[in-house]
Amino acid sequence: MSDELFDLTGRVALVTGTSRGLGQYFARALARAGADLILTSRKKESLKEFAAEIEAMGRRQYCVDLDVRDEQSIRRMAAEAEQAFGKIDILVNNAGCNVRKPALEVTWEDWNTVLDTNLRGSFFVAQAVARGMVDRGYGRIVNIGSVTSVAGYAGLGPYGASRGGIRQLTMSLADDWGRHGVTVNCLAPGWFQTAQNRVMYEDREWVEYLMERIPLKRPGRPDDLDGAVVFLASEASRYVTGQTLLVGGGISTGAMRGLPGGEAAGARGRAGTRSGSGSRWNSRMS
Ligand SMILES: NC(=O)c1ccc[n+]([C@@H]2O[C@H](COP(=O)([O-])OP(=O)(O)OC[C@H]3O[C@@H](n4cnc5c(N)ncnc54)[C@H](OP(=O)(O)O)[C@@H]3O)[C@@H](O)[C@H]2O)c1
Repeated sequence: MSDELFDLTGRVALVTGTSRGLGQYFARALARAGADLILTSRKKESLKEFAAEIEAMGRRQYCVDLDVRDEQSIRRMAAEAEQAFGKIDILVNNAGCNVRKPALEVTWEDWNTVLDTNLRGSFFVAQAVARGMVDRGYGRIVNIGSVTSVAGYAGLGPYGASRGGIRQLTMSLADDWGRHGVTVNCLAPGWFQTAQNRVMYEDREWVEYLMERIPLKRPGRPDDLDGAVVFLASEASRYVTGQTLLVGGGISTGAMRGLPGGEAAGARGRAGTRSGSGSRWNSRMS
């Protein structure tokens, strides 16, 4: 296998929502692989420091304002971004938000904020950027989903609906644009600590509960997503489209104890000796 499969030299990547958090990690990973970057924020002044970091890596960068809840802002951004380097090869649809609340407390406004940002925003950004990709016959679109794209969590109703929608949208757009050389995939992170969910990680009991349910037994580090984003943005994924790639230490398996008590963790080596008839674990109720 050659490194060329993952080489993004000469490619232009637009990553939305790069003022903080995962968006910056995605942009860094793509820059490291060779891509020039278009960075966005609702306040592009907030991108100054990060833009300098991208340049220090030897890549070109261009910063543009974008509010994904505003149709005109999306149009302006797409036109300006296309002009900046003459094309956009890669789009990472990362800008997003969350409102955590028990379902009974979710307001009409909460719903609109989350769905308009995460789902409607991602669709119209993809549409605006895909026009040029379709004309040029090449594109890689990576929609950021979440483990909530495939699983349900209390307190995350609107968010989960938006992320489930992203997964579905990914499949539809893959079919729409595949014939034009544009692949569309969904990168779905598990639980990564960022500004968006800091409050959760301040709760020690919740962190322990989370660790128990992650097969790899640690929370995600944002750079755990580097390989996946470069894969989906590069030649390496040229025959992959419409797919959702979950990167979450295995949490999407729905991991929970399948054995009684606290014995499950140490059971691996002993399981064979306990699985014969008469074992208390050899129940028909699995
Ligand atoms: N952290 C996780 O564990 C996790 C897991 C799965 C999926 N995700 C998703 O991954 C993405 C990044 O997450 P994160 O944790 O890095 O979030 P974050 O720290 O809150 O950053 C969100 C980014 O989105 C931008 N943004 C928010 N609303 C916007 C709007 N209306 N228009 C344009 N940009 C907007 C923000 O930019 P400005 O405020 O500067 O405009 C910011 O750069 C989000 O879509 C999130 O839902 C996160």
